[in-house]
Amino acid sequence: MNGTVDITQDGGVLTLRMNRPDKKNALTNAMYGTMADTLENADRDDSVRVAVIRGAGELFCAGNDIGDFLKASDNIAEGNVFRFIRLLGAFTKPLVAGVQGHAVGIGTTMLLHCDYVVLAEDAKLSTPFTGLGLVPEAASSMILPATIGHSRAFAMLAMGEPMGAAEAVAAGLANQLVANTELDDAVDKAAQRIAALPPGAMQATKALMREPGVTGARMEAEIEIFAQRLQSAEAKEAFTAFMEKRKPDFSSF
Ligand code: COA
Repeated sequence: MNGTVDITQDGGVLTLRMNRPDKKNALTNAMYGTMADTLENADRDDSVRVAVIRGAGELFCAGNDIGDFLKASDNIAEGNVFRFIRLLGAFTKPLVAGVQGHAVGIGTTMLLHCDYVVLAEDAKLSTPFTGLGLVPEAASSMILPATIGHSRAFAMLAMGEPMGAAEAVAAGLANQLVANTELDDAVDKAAQRIAALPPGAMQATKALMREPGVTGARMEAEIEIFAQRLQSAEAKEAFTAFMEKRKPDFSSF
């Protein structure tokens, strides 16, 4: 399956750029593997002070590759999806993201583990798990309601309602809203500011602010249900409908 994650480092700033624009940066197992390996190595590498997540092209990320979901539904635990999610939650250095266009599914839930998020004005965050026969992942079932309140989180996580950039900043899901043409510059500036601060104090501060033990426990609870849901007839109908470019039909369930 084609698609890459491009890894570059400039001083203390390590950038992971999802790069599969023809499929809207939908993440394959191989792409999750690259991101997981990169985070694992970056956590041990003193030359890395901050990691930045970006997406190439017109949008940030269309979430998990749905064709991969259909194929991997029986052995998802052996792949890299959950490995990436666990490493994301446990990453000890600051994470920055810059988002343009759609951020779907894990494209949005990964932002909940980022410490500084810049949204372009066309950014649209969505988590259509239920409509895919699935449940939330990456501890989003806990972090999102805690951040934006149950009602708005229910609309997103259970009803799949998207949230635009201005509302996301107002709701505390992101730091900054910039014009699309300003996104690169705003992300670079934020990352450089973080990288210039003392790394020991920075990591100790993040450790005090995050609770990877608590979110990690929720991730494991979600993963168990998510893996079951992947094999459900509801999910199979949703994935098949997407691949066949038709509306799913849940009327028989
Ligand atoms: N998995 C696999 N392929 C995907 C994909 C995904 N998550 N998202 C997009 N693609 C593919 C489309 O099938 C299409 O492939 P094709 O050119 O071979 O037909 C191509 O990427 C372009 O997608 P398209 O839907 O035409 O782009 P768009 O700009 O009209 O819409 C999105 C962009 C992101 C809104 C839309 O693609 C979408 O909703 N994707 C699915 C998101 C999703 O449910 N992800 C899973 C979350 S858990």
